[in-house]
Amino acid sequence: MNQTVNAEERAPIGHIAFIMDGNGRWAKQRGMPREYGHRFGVKAFQRILEHCRDLGVQTVTVYAFSTENWKRPKKEVDAIMKLMDQYLTECEKKIERYNFRICFLGSKAAFDDKRRTRMEKLEKQTAGRLQTLNIALNYGGRDEIVHACNRLIAQGVREVTEESFASALYTAKSEDPDLIIRTGGDLRISNFLLWQAAYAELYFTDVLWPDFGPAELDAAIEDFYKRKRRYGGV
Ligand code: FPP
Repeated sequence: MNQTVNAEERAPIGHIAFIMDGNGRWAKQRGMPREYGHRFGVKAFQRILEHCRDLGVQTVTVYAFSTENWKRPKKEVDAIMKLMDQYLTECEKKIERYNFRICFLGSKAAFDDKRRTRMEKLEKQTAGRLQTLNIALNYGGRDEIVHACNRLIAQGVREVTEESFASALYTAKSEDPDLIIRTGGDLRISNFLLWQAAYAELYFTDVLWPDFGPAELDAAIEDFYKRKRRYGGV
């Protein structure tokens, strides 16, 4: 039986989140340093973001740098931060034509004033855009949950609901992810969107992130549409 669902019968995917894994191995396969892989990782991210824009995906979330990634060698951390700064510059340059509302997930306290100001300015300038790009930077799911608890305590809240808790998370402005894609072959969540992933469909592929392109995303989406989402019901 052909399981493919006609495009017109499909509810659009609201939110796709990506664990962009495999940059280091991709570089190693080419006899290059890990930073080389991250550089091509950014190119893959840009292609995927454009594809998501064209598909009308409401929210795209990318795991760019985790709270644990600070443990990597300084040279690699510096290279990723430099790539991030270059991306900020690119967004600033084409701000009028930039399609996405940018939100950074994670504590900005880890960054110097200059980078933090640029991040906050981009968030403000893109606030009215219809599609959302969440960039998880210095992000960890556990850190986010602890941060939300402390926020609520500081507000004097004595009882929380699922809704009030969700609104204290970094993702307060986004719906929960429908589909989480992890490239690079590992079968784990790695502290990503722990609360929000409750009913997400998970898709794992061996493809290394720099090789993950529109055709690979289309295959993941095709797979998503074959899933039966029951949310605990029957
Ligand atoms: C995981 O691959 C990748 C990262 C920890 C960094 C990902 C960052 C980028 C692609 C740059 C983000 C920048 C923007 C502008 C969004 P890995 O290094 O763990 O690869 P490995 O598992 O093969 O070692």
